Amino acid sequence: MTVRTLTVFGTRPEAIKMAPLVIGLENHQDFESHVCVTAQHREMLDQVLSFFDIQPDFDLDIMQPGQDLHDVTVKVLLGIRDVLRDLKPDLVFVHGDTTTCFASALAAFYEDIPVAHIEAGLRTWDLGAPFPEELNRSIVGRFAEFHFAPTQSARDNLLREGVPQDMVWVTGNTVIDALLMATDRIEAQYSEEHWSDRFGEDLFRKIINPTNDIILVTGHRRENFGDGFERICQAIAESAARNEHWTFIYPVHLNPNVQDPVKTSLGELDNVHLIDPLEYESFIWLMNNADVILTDSGGVQEEAPSLGKPVLVMRDVTERPEAVNAGTVKLVGTNQDAIMAGLEDLLNRDDAYEVMSRASNPYGQGDAVPQILAELYDHYHS
Ligand code: UD1
Ligand code: UDP
Repeated sequence: MTVRTLTVFGTRPEAIKMAPLVIGLENHQDFESHVCVTAQHREMLDQVLSFFDIQPDFDLDIMQPGQDLHDVTVKVLLGIRDVLRDLKPDLVFVHGDTTTCFASALAAFYEDIPVAHIEAGLRTWDLGAPFPEELNRSIVGRFAEFHFAPTQSARDNLLREGVPQDMVWVTGNTVIDALLMATDRIEAQYSEEHWSDRFGEDLFRKIINPTNDIILVTGHRRENFGDGFERICQAIAESAARNEHWTFIYPVHLNPNVQDPVKTSLGELDNVHLIDPLEYESFIWLMNNADVILTDSGGVQEEAPSLGKPVLVMRDVTERPEAVNAGTVKLVGTNQDAIMAGLEDLLNRDDAYEVMSRASNPYGQGDAVPQILAELYDHYHS
């Protein structure tokens, strides 16, 4: 039996984490693979599609500047309805916790089509953080037919909520499959000259000079908008002023709620480089060459342990406790003093740095996709 699948995603992190699955499905003769992007993100999604050479079969193209959660939910729900009715897939893949994930899974449920949930089972147990992602992920966990949990603790969360154990598989996170693809490609295809052109000669020289301290920053969480972002920017501005030998590099998320405060507070500082969102391969190269990462991102918390990079996470709670337990990730919230103290500690104390920079693989070995496909193959052929 050939299984007709529809893989749906819409934002940058979903695209990165679904790309290895799309490639795996396309190369598997027992699946007929179709891809629908909602384009909840546009430029940041297209960067990833281009790197992985994915041409979607359907593009809902829903992004409008300043769209809110209501707009995104309604546009995805209605757009996917038509795709599902035309294509009639046997199975719909969704990923994680975005509004694209929630609304497309709901559309599949309404059409009585089974949902396979990738990166299932992560929980903070706090509906306010991450907002609205904790609710999105939990709701999909309520009705998905196949739950692919990245870690044992994610599986335990699902079992605690009453999901039958024979519907949950621990596979590792596909983010590591993607990371390995990108690092292989970076090693094989890109020279120093490429990176010098990409970042500009001056910044490139700063980045690769081992005596410089490079701090890579990303941030975009809704619950940090407003005061949280003000405190984050103050912490960066004051740390940069006190430590002229530190270089902050901040690819700024395109959300206006992020762009405006960041550019206003940090736009004029010599050792803070605000740049556009990076293509995935450039971001991975930069992570590899950074000393410390300061972020509120989910995906970055998962990638950094494999690369042995210390991460200070600007959140009070995380649904990814594994990297905290492994010692690579530390929660500093959005408190200005805590962020500054975390940076000082890591960059001025060799022992603290040593402890946090040990590589580990709590999110798997990069073989999540073959495991997912093998489980599904067994299911459909038993
Ligand atoms: C979304 C996800 C979040 C995920 C994040 C990854 C939800 C509720 N949020 O948050 O879980 O962690 O993506 O980055 O699903 N924009 C552009 N171009 C782009 C992307 C965004 O201009 O390529 C701007 C637009 O003005 C858009 C705004 O950013 O309206 C917000 O995008 P949205 O997807 O609603 O929220 P994110 O904060 O990106
Ligand atoms: N990333 C990227 N370019 C950037 C910043 C991040 O390609 O400029 C990648 C990063 O490697 C990770 C993912 O985007 O895989 C994280 O996305 P984001 O922080 O937007 O979302 P989250 O993971 O928090 O949902």
